Amino acid sequence: MLKDNQLLKNLNIATKLNVLLVTIALITIFLSGGVLSLILSHNAEKVVTDKALVLMETMSAVRNYTSTKVNPELASRLETDTQFLPQTVPAFSAREVFEYFREQGGYKDFFYKEATLNPTNLRDKADKFEANIVEEFRLNKSLKQTSGFRTFSSGDIFYIARPLQVSKESCLRCHSTPDRAPQSLLTTYGRENGFNWKLHEIVGAQMILVPANAIFESAKRLQTSVMGILISCLILAIVLINFFLKVSITNPLKKMAQLAQRISTGDLTREFEHPFNDEVGVLAASLNRMKVSLDIAMEMLNSDTE
Ligand code: HEC
Repeated sequence: MLKDNQLLKNLNIATKLNVLLVTIALITIFLSGGVLSLILSHNAEKVVTDKALVLMETMSAVRNYTSTKVNPELASRLETDTQFLPQTVPAFSAREVFEYFREQGGYKDFFYKEATLNPTNLRDKADKFEANIVEEFRLNKSLKQTSGFRTFSSGDIFYIARPLQVSKESCLRCHSTPDRAPQSLLTTYGRENGFNWKLHEIVGAQMILVPANAIFESAKRLQTSVMGILISCLILAIVLINFFLKVSITNPLKKMAQLAQRISTGDLTREFEHPFNDEVGVLAASLNRMKVSLDIAMEMLNSDTE
């Protein structure tokens, strides 16, 4: 402790001030860096979530449109046509609409999947990761939505998932036993997949995948530039404060100390300079007055001794 005090005593004003300024600058950088990073990543996550939600609602609307407007018009043809009409199936239309969206809108890295444990069309088969999400929905019936990140080789992808439930008895026409399904469906999809579903069972998860890397990278870039500007401003402030300290305090004080040294050895020929009227200027002026008094006193002393 004593040593510390000694060290502090031996430091000059500029060093002490710089230690203080650098400490303040570091605290400012760490605090604002942390807060900025929190705000920006929170914002980026919100942007990604909003995108995914809009797409999810759009796809649900496409599904609804197909089952309420398209299906009733074409249902009768399912009985007569030899070729199955997948256009009547909400899952099919949602998938097709999303493919157009990906190709025409330049959204190649966005994905839509009705990940199903036992799907009619095997392209909808849930992989291990998706199957876990479906299991989560099956175990927790009150869970209506879940989301998170999935890492692919191309980068992090944000997903949002909702349960797919066999909500109506009418679904069982094509998804319970092959015997109940239209012949054309069996011809196209076979008798193996997409059957034995139960009413109200959760059979899969409707999933939207949105690429998150670009959004998070642009948040990082923004953070780097803001921090760059902040650090430059702090450095500039420290340089300017040092310059000010030198010009208006330490340099004049040094000159005064040298002059006081000369006066102490009897050299009274020079004046203290005081270009500014600040505290240092006032000190210089009073030292000048003291020097004059000293001069007079010396002269009186000299004349007395003569
Ligand atoms: C007319 C027969 C038919 C009816 C009725 C039907 N589906 Fe399907 N469903 C299909 C076919 C065929 C597919 C595969 C479409 C494709 O090729 O993408 C399918 C696909 C699906 C899929 C995507 C996973 C998979 O199996 O490939 C889900 C989920 C689904 N149906 C749920 C339902 C629900 C819920 C209902 C009731 C509201 C329903 N289906 C009614 C024939 C039907």
